[in-house]
Amino acid sequence: MLKLKGSIKISGDKSISHRALILSAMSKGKTKITNLLESDDVMRTLEILRELGVKITKSNNCWFVYGNGTNGFIEPENALDCGNSGTTARLMIGAVSSNPIKCTFVGDKSLSKRSMSRVTKYLEDVGTEVNITKKDYLPLMIHGSENLLPTTHHIQKASAQIKSALILASLNIHGKTKIVEKTLTRDHTERMMKYLNINFKIKKLNNGSRIIELNGPYEINSKDIEVVSDPSSASFFIVGALIAPGSKVMLKNIMMNPTRIAFLKILKSMGGKIKIKKTKNISGEEVGSITAEYSKLKGVNIPSKLSAMLIDEYPILSIAASQAKGKTVMKGLDELRHKESDRINSIVTNFKNIGFKITNKKNDLIIYGKDIKIKKNIKIKTFDDHRIAMSFSILNIIYDNYLNIDNKDCISISYPHFEKHLNSLTVKTNG
Ligand code: S3P
Repeated sequence: MLKLKGSIKISGDKSISHRALILSAMSKGKTKITNLLESDDVMRTLEILRELGVKITKSNNCWFVYGNGTNGFIEPENALDCGNSGTTARLMIGAVSSNPIKCTFVGDKSLSKRSMSRVTKYLEDVGTEVNITKKDYLPLMIHGSENLLPTTHHIQKASAQIKSALILASLNIHGKTKIVEKTLTRDHTERMMKYLNINFKIKKLNNGSRIIELNGPYEINSKDIEVVSDPSSASFFIVGALIAPGSKVMLKNIMMNPTRIAFLKILKSMGGKIKIKKTKNISGEEVGSITAEYSKLKGVNIPSKLSAMLIDEYPILSIAASQAKGKTVMKGLDELRHKESDRINSIVTNFKNIGFKITNKKNDLIIYGKDIKIKKNIKIKTFDDHRIAMSFSILNIIYDNYLNIDNKDCISISYPHFEKHLNSLTVKTNG
């Protein structure tokens, strides 16, 4: 039997790393970024910024970005390759749209099946020219302009990527842009803008909507950014500790942004012994430490209204649910169909293959927790999705590595040190 014991420093947050690079590239002056996540996705953003004429260097584990301002991107000679990264594609499409340059965006096979019109349709409304494959996909060609119209955008989907793309575009639009989101999504762009002293307003309405009001164009003065540790990456070891008897882990300096840590509340309501201590604010984000230990979990109902707050954690929450007593109902998972893989399908396929009872009605999942003995060498299909690969690696702790995960290389998309960290926490128990 294996268990998790000890403490590790979780790598930098993926969402914040993308934003730290983009906003420092759009600032005037030199920004030092520490603890940047050097994962495949983030490196795509970094390389694209270089293609757009931004000087970025590294020394002594710190990155230095020499920003050219909000109107400072130059027309790239090559296509901008977003690889597997939806955040890179959507945020960078927004960022270049209000610069007078032409860019072509491309991506890998998985990214080329994910919707881009969810962002470009708003940019077209304000005057960006876009040429897009089959009305929705990469490759796409965008012809930006510094004369885009200031307007009010009503975002239909709960998506931080759409919101952030429109915010980044508005930083070089002359006049007032308003962005209305019906439900709160992760707000790292807004927090980082406050940290960078950018002047804008957020209004909260009684119906739960938020209006972000920006009056461009902006001149942003560079300010050093420290990237805090990624709670979504931490969630794997937290669930690992909760399900493997005898485990206890302690994780420090984890980002405590309320839009990202709803999974901790869910795990606590399942009976998870989790202690959280908020400690300080780093570059506009609250951080704290988390202790999690082995617990007898029970099934819960997770309502659809929480889905935007749990969007990246459903795969690992499914692993927790598989080890809980009773059933866990997860509702309103529509957006999971549009991630690096169709995550509803990825979870259901592998659960059935292992022998768990799981039902899927439209975009809801019901998982029946069960203590099962499994056979050696059960194949797990990751569908090249990093969060699926990491989730089943965690389940492997209690199944003595009987699960044979088909592609672990994809883990480097968000967490290159995952295996090293998992190994350093893993301890063999007797019996
Ligand atoms: C992200 C937003 C989320 C999330 C993704 C990162 C971001 O996507 O799933 O991993 O950094 O803005 P959506 O905005 O499409 O929900």
